[in-house]
Amino acid sequence: MSDALNYLLKARPEALGHYFAFLKDAGKHLDPKTKNLISVITKVDVQTERGLKQYLKRALREGCTAVEVLDALLMAFPTLGLAKIIWAVDVILSMDLPEFSHLGSTPAVQVAPVVSKPAWHDVGPSAGLKDGEVQRSECDGMGLFIYRKARSFAVFDSRCPHQGTTITELALDGTKLTCPKHQWEFDATSGSCIKKGNSPLTRFESKVVKGRLMAFW
Ligand code: FES
Repeated sequence: MSDALNYLLKARPEALGHYFAFLKDAGKHLDPKTKNLISVITKVDVQTERGLKQYLKRALREGCTAVEVLDALLMAFPTLGLAKIIWAVDVILSMDLPEFSHLGSTPAVQVAPVVSKPAWHDVGPSAGLKDGEVQRSECDGMGLFIYRKARSFAVFDSRCPHQGTTITELALDGTKLTCPKHQWEFDATSGSCIKKGNSPLTRFESKVVKGRLMAFW
């Protein structure tokens, strides 16, 4: 349990008691394995690393297999999206759990890479982007960081130039971006790498057409 919940439990036991009673009652018809899998997904959704680790271990203790955990993550794709699933798998791999290690050593099925021709993509209304701010966005399966300065826009690939980790919105602090994997830092207004690494974010060509921000990749 988080320190904050522990604190609230002591400070407002009567109120928090109802909350925990609700949680207990809400899952009373589910078996422990399913309950813990659902908790894993909720922790991934809010990207709470400590909670994810805690409930993942519980799910495994209750008999969940690694492939069931992966299935649950993939089934939740419509709500989690690829970036959160990748984040969760990164956390899981960092735990060095034997249940997961053998899966990564299975020879990968050779899938022919889908090579899509570079094209212009409609990122969204340019007016929706605040001046002087960096915003995380998704467009046609591509994660983007977009910086607006007055009438000019800079659109960056959200994948880290180091090892391709998809960088999520949580990594953004104002205009500074820190890749969660090895902590390369980027200035998201220019894409420059400002700490640890040596390669900038990939910048996509962009333009505004009839009020829509378009980017080319
Ligand atoms: S993958 Fe981003 S810093 Fe290594």
